[in-house]
Amino acid sequence: MESIYYHRETQVFTLRTKHTMYQMQVRQFGILVHLYYGPDLGHTELDYRIVEQDHGFSPNPYEADTDRTITLDILPQEYSSYGIGDYRICASEILSQDGSDVADFRYKSYEIWEGKYSLKGLPSMFGTPSEAQTLSIRLEDSVTGVTAVLLYSVFPELDVITRAVRFENDGDRSYRLRKGMSAQLDFLDGPLDMIHFHGRHMMERMPERERLSHGVTQVGSRRGASSHQQNPFVILCRPETQEDYGLCYGLSLVYSGNFLLEAEVDQMNQTRVLMGIHPAQFWHEIQCGDFFETPEVIMTCTTEGFSRLSIQLHDALRSNLMRSPFVSKQRPILLNNWEATYFDFDEEKLFRIAEQAKKLGVDLFVLDDGWFGRRNSDFSGLGDWWVNEEKIKGGLPLLAKRIQDLGMKLGLWIEPEMISEDSALYREHPDWCLHFPHRNPVRGRYQLNLDITRKEVRDHVMKEIFQVIESCRISYIKWDMNRSLGNVYSTALAPEKQGDVYHQYVLALYEMQESLISRFPELLFENCAGGGGRFDAGMLYYSPQIWCSDNTDAIDRLKIQYGTSFGYPVSAMGAHISVCPNHQTGRSVPFEARAVVASAGTFGFELDPVNLSEEEAAKAREAMSFYRQTWKLRQLGDYYRLSDPFSNQDYVIWEFVSKSKDEALTEGVILRHQPNSPVFFLHLRGLDAGREYREIESGKVYTGAALMTAGLPLPLNYGDFCAFRLHFIVA
Ligand code: DGJ
Repeated sequence: MESIYYHRETQVFTLRTKHTMYQMQVRQFGILVHLYYGPDLGHTELDYRIVEQDHGFSPNPYEADTDRTITLDILPQEYSSYGIGDYRICASEILSQDGSDVADFRYKSYEIWEGKYSLKGLPSMFGTPSEAQTLSIRLEDSVTGVTAVLLYSVFPELDVITRAVRFENDGDRSYRLRKGMSAQLDFLDGPLDMIHFHGRHMMERMPERERLSHGVTQVGSRRGASSHQQNPFVILCRPETQEDYGLCYGLSLVYSGNFLLEAEVDQMNQTRVLMGIHPAQFWHEIQCGDFFETPEVIMTCTTEGFSRLSIQLHDALRSNLMRSPFVSKQRPILLNNWEATYFDFDEEKLFRIAEQAKKLGVDLFVLDDGWFGRRNSDFSGLGDWWVNEEKIKGGLPLLAKRIQDLGMKLGLWIEPEMISEDSALYREHPDWCLHFPHRNPVRGRYQLNLDITRKEVRDHVMKEIFQVIESCRISYIKWDMNRSLGNVYSTALAPEKQGDVYHQYVLALYEMQESLISRFPELLFENCAGGGGRFDAGMLYYSPQIWCSDNTDAIDRLKIQYGTSFGYPVSAMGAHISVCPNHQTGRSVPFEARAVVASAGTFGFELDPVNLSEEEAAKAREAMSFYRQTWKLRQLGDYYRLSDPFSNQDYVIWEFVSKSKDEALTEGVILRHQPNSPVFFLHLRGLDAGREYREIESGKVYTGAALMTAGLPLPLNYGDFCAFRLHFIVA
């Protein structure tokens, strides 16, 4: 199916997916104007939406002469730049050697080809020629030779359009890119709401919805990682849009470093949205003949509300971004020793935990922080990637063999981007960390960031880690990152290149992770940054799962996993059952509720199984067995949020439906028992209205229509935090 059309007479470009459409037009003087993005409107051109009228106090391009109807201050543009009469937030800013900071981009040419563009050193969606078609549009500034190549790949079946920009230098002098956003979306009419996902360490991705109003709204990160505090995924929608109804757009930046999402409602009530690398502390020198590529933005749109939007994104990420074989393979159930031992363990304690985990039926034992160097607390050891033989006598290969002889797989925690001042590595190479000359460093968790922009540094670290993986037949890696970037200055780079350090850091991180997964393609790889401090589409290109949060309290997790699910599949969310009282909140929650929450993620344990009672062990076994029965439905099915934990104080429910609509599972937690309670009705979604479904445990049969429209009374349980599940198959 052709998904990109160019109409020569009207110079209109139309990009079409199954249900959506995107349009732009080359207008007078080669100005590329954005016409539309939204639901498919059929074969129509939307240039009539641009109303030309005299805007007396807005500047006009020189060629317009006395015509004051043409102004870049008002026109919806496809990709704006600074200095040419557009006073709104701009997508790009360059600085020429003569000190001028203007680029006047005009249309030059276009190309269309089958397949997907790729970006050098950056993660991005992939697609075969039958899955994707690509359009590139060249915009040039005739004075400087600065060229912006706008890249669009259209995935018709996924209802996804991806975008990125390549800045080239066709001139005879280098120039400095000070801002180069990945995507711009100009909306001619409003109003629009924005939902962004703010948070903090241990409470990540809390949705917040606000009406965009006149002026500029910004969310972003300047912490060097995409951050706990904001997420590089946002939703734009109409005020009336809800879970099951209404127009909405999802924008996901495939990038794991500093980012900015900014939106401006202008004097004409139009809205401009920009997304890309944060321009603060950023510049990049583009030499003659060279280029710079921005990260990619994945865009999707629907008129069917947020659940549909999430399903589209989940599908796109799973099928055409996440490369791990584990995306569609059953993941091992793991037990991680962090909350069981913290730094306090020896080889016998670890072995006992692994042995007990095996008896329980766990597949994989993960040895977390503390196994290396002199890592007896978080004050030392990072950078020394050899086993701490005082703690693990006989060495890691021996312990690994004992655990593997039990029939278990072994996983390992690493934090390759960091260095402790109290480490052999620091004593040998004190200059290998990011640091400002002549200043004491700012510490975070008493550690410093390694300067991985230096090749010799990343090569050294990865070589040591590879040796450990090979010597112990490691089958899972958890890659952690426990502080934001600080002291961001690389002594290996010239002063005029310091504006590049944040971005070079992210490229270096990607290179390190690429080297890991290409050397060990069978490895199950999980990213982590103090929990969910780098939970983004960029990371999912390398690892199929990310530790969702350091907060393992099941009740808080209901909110964290709910927020995360808007932009990311549940199969990407690391989620474990931990002990009660919970270590972060002191809250006690029944085992079944902890299990149901963990199984709405990757499912594992974060506790010492030696301390489980017989009754708890039986419940753990039951939870594992049910998870193993239903993993496909959870991992590959459609996910629906059936309640909002921020507004509903009574229960939190979600649902998985198989793609064939043959099977559905609705689960959740009833938050509090109320005597003489009103009956709450559960309305399923995504079923076939005309088919009959049998609830497996009760054997009762209902039509899909009844389950979705009339609803089912929620079980009336006694006590707080009661888990429930209802599992349906086609009768
Ligand atoms: C932060 C992680 O999120 C935890 O799970 C644990 O691995 C600690 N770091 C170890 O330092």
